[in-house]
Formats: sequence, C-alpha cells, structure tokens
Amino acid sequence: MRKISVLSILVILMSMFQSCSEKIETDLTQTAFIPKPTSVTATGDGYNLTKASLIYVQEGPAGLLSTAEFLAEKINQLTGNSAETKTTNSTPSKGVYISIAEDGELNKQGYELKINKNLISIKGADAAGCFFGLQTLLQTLPVANDNAQPLYVPTGTITDSPEYYYRGSMLDVSRHFFNVEEVKQYIDFLAMYKMNVLHLHLSDDQGWRIEIKSWPKLTDFGGQTEVGGGEGGFYTQEQYKELVQYAADRQIMIVPEIDMPGHTNAALASYAELNCDGKARELYTGTEVGFSTLCTDKEITYQFIDDVIRELAEITPGPYIHIGGDESHVTAHDDYVYFVNKVQDIVKKYDKKIIGWDEIANAKLIDDVTVQFWADVENTTMGVEKGAQVLMSPAARAYLDMQYDSTTHLGLHWAGYIEVDHGYDWDPATLVEGITKENILGIEAPLWSETVTNIDEVEYMTFPRLPGYAEIGWTAPAERNWDEYKTRLAKHGKRFEALGIDYYKSALVPWEE
Ligand code: ACM
Repeated sequence: MRKISVLSILVILMSMFQSCSEKIETDLTQTAFIPKPTSVTATGDGYNLTKASLIYVQEGPAGLLSTAEFLAEKINQLTGNSAETKTTNSTPSKGVYISIAEDGELNKQGYELKINKNLISIKGADAAGCFFGLQTLLQTLPVANDNAQPLYVPTGTITDSPEYYYRGSMLDVSRHFFNVEEVKQYIDFLAMYKMNVLHLHLSDDQGWRIEIKSWPKLTDFGGQTEVGGGEGGFYTQEQYKELVQYAADRQIMIVPEIDMPGHTNAALASYAELNCDGKARELYTGTEVGFSTLCTDKEITYQFIDDVIRELAEITPGPYIHIGGDESHVTAHDDYVYFVNKVQDIVKKYDKKIIGWDEIANAKLIDDVTVQFWADVENTTMGVEKGAQVLMSPAARAYLDMQYDSTTHLGLHWAGYIEVDHGYDWDPATLVEGITKENILGIEAPLWSETVTNIDEVEYMTFPRLPGYAEIGWTAPAERNWDEYKTRLAKHGKRFEALGIDYYKSALVPWEE
C-alpha cells in the first residue's frame, strides 16, 4: 500500500515536471509553404502563440507598424488574445519582433524569419520583406481556430527572397464592375501569397470606372453599365485612394490602366468630341473587341488624356501607369504609333513609368517602358530590342479567365484550357526564345471579366491557380516542379475552405479530406 502511494506521488511529480518543460514536437520543414521559400531549417520545438501578447517593432524604419498591426489582428483572431504592438530600440527576449536588416544583408523584398521557443523574429530587407515574412509565419498556422486550441509555431529559420520584383494579378473591373469591398477581398488573396501588384483595368468599351473630375461624364454616363446591361459603377477618387491605402498596408501597389486608343467606347459614348466624326457612340454591353478608337489626330484627344493621366497620377503613389494599347484594330498603324508616342510623353510628364500590352512595342519606346507580353512574341521581342522590360502574362498560361477544361462553366478558351498543372508548369525566363530573366520585370495573371460577374465567380477562376502564379514569380525555377508543388497545394484546400473561397477542385491535385 505504502509503496504504491510513493510511486503514485513520484508519477504525479514527474508528469508535473514534464508539463512545465513540455517539449512540443514540430518540424517546420513539413509546412506546405506557397510560394516555396529559399531555405527552411527546423529545430523541432514550438513557440506558444497563445501566449503571444506583444509585437515589438523596431523604432525608426517606416512601414513596419501596419505589418505589426496586421499580425496582431491575426493573432487575436486565432487565440482570443489582445496582442498589442509596441516600438523598441533593442531586440526583445520574448514575443514577436519585427525589424529591418542591415543594408545588403538580405535580398530586396527578402526576409529572415527566426522562430525559437521564446521569440519570433521577422527581419526584412525592407518593409515589404517584413510583410512577406509575416505571410510565411501565418502559413504555419491555421486560418481559423474555432475551438480556441493552443497554437504552437514550429521553430526554425527561414530565409527567403523573390525571383522577380513584380508579382501581380489584373482585375478587369470594366467588363463587370467589382465594388470596393470585392476589390479589397481580391487584394487579401494576393497578399496571402506575397503578390505585390494589383493591376486594375479601369476602362474599356463597356465601362469607365474611375472618377475624373475634369471629365465627369466618363463615370456619370460611361460608368453606368457593364457586359449584359447591368448597372455598372465606378470608384470615386476617394474610394480609389482607400483601395491604394488598403493595398499599401499589404505591400501591394496598384497599377491603374486606362486602355487606349482602342477599348474606349465608354469614353467615346460619354464625349462626342473624342470621336473623329464628332458623334457620341452608344453605350456597349456586349463582348466584342477591337471596334473602338480615340481620334488620334484631334488635339482634344491629347488634352483629354493629359487630364486623365494628371488626375490618375495624383492619386497613384506607385511608379506605374498602364496605357493599354491592345487590339486597336480600327486605328491605322501609323496613327497608332503616333498616338502611343504622344501618350508616353504625357505619362512621363507626370513622372510615371509606362506599362502597355505588347502591341505598344510598335511605337518608339521611351526609357523605362515595360511591355506586357500577352499574345505576340514578335511584338515582345521587338520591345526588348528597343530596350523595354517585359511583364510576362502569356494568355495560354497565365490568363485566369481561361477555362480549366471543356466542362468549366465560366470563362473563355480562345487561348486554350489552363488546368492547374499547365498554369504552374512553365518558366517565364525560358518560355519565349530571346527573352531571358534579365529582360523580365515579373509576372502577372490577368482576370478578364466578360463572363465573371461576382466575387464567387472571381474566386472560382482564381483558385487554385493564383498560388501557382505567385510561386512562379517568387521561387527559383530549379526549386519548382509540379509533382511536389501539387502536394503542397493540396494542403491549401482546407485553407481555401476555411476562408470561404469557392475554388475549383481540380482532379489533378490530391486534396486533403
Ligand atoms: C488582351 O487580352 N487583350 C490584352
């Protein structure tokens, strides 16, 4: 009797001791990170996130506080804590610490994420790097924690930086309009996968979507419909600024596009004087392309463009304005070249850099122009010969509005079907002969919205392909292969579900039940 009770006491004491110094078994290398980081090493312990209450930010560098607040909000959602942010001028011994590396220590947009039992340190090459490190940290955790389970972050070190500077997606808000809340949701999707550009296609035949105060009918009239005849809509400049700020807090820049001289019916319907014959066009709600053009030899056309670019540049802190330039089938070649030459000077006057679809390479390109490859190899290589950088958006690989296969109920297939493997399994630096990594600014996956009418449909076409484009932009090609990638993607299915994302459950991906 006596012996047993001594034993029991010993057992109780031992278990108490164990729970005090409890070692959580983890393996950071088993986390299904997308995009795949440059290097991950594991140390096999756990940081108890449930106890995290302070997020320290290095005093001095700008742009870190929004990342800290973003993290605090996520921690609080997951744990029910009320984690707070605080600035400091020395590395704390516990909690979470966000700081900037010494100059040259890390590659641009890169970060080092060090997780030990007491401290999580996110050190970025710049503020963007810190945010991307935070996104990596979040992928070690569930997206929701409904049962308020204790959460442990696996310990170890990740060092990481992107292959390309520009990793984006385009949302066509002209064919169908998406409101501010929907665009914010899209920005959240990009942020989760470390994408850093949202290109907004703000004008087309079917609708003008950005308020231009000096030409108010563009939105009062030209913004009032969309494909199929719905009511359309537009962003006031205040709303646009709100989107710019929301994106900037997630290290995403907005690249606004005014498509011209073609794809301009909404403007031509709003102002008769922009037409060569001086007659206003009817509003258009179909899906044909290539039938509209601004009048390239009227002075008023360039006054119009000057006003639009001036107002847009004033509310766009990012360096780029996209001038479209695609499918101007009813603009004579010489008129097109004359027009694109003049528009480049206008954009330059407002201190912005130019991006245009690959057709703009037919013009004389000024310095620092980026040609967005979507269809024509000859145009694109001509652009490179003229000194342009290339943004890779090959329609047959990267268009999010292309159907997955012949059974997809949304989307188009003029550039082919893009199953998830086909969308993932290519290298921007070898896809087109003569265009190499040195020529490439980055990659972008555009979502055109002829058939896509609401955010659920956006989600269905975007997921699960978007993480693949993010990885193409981020991870070195030698580190990527479909067979390994699909097993990581499979683990993100649950994350999509927890976030309420309506995704295409491709049979090529071994989704986890
Ligand atoms: C395009 O798809 N027309 C750029």
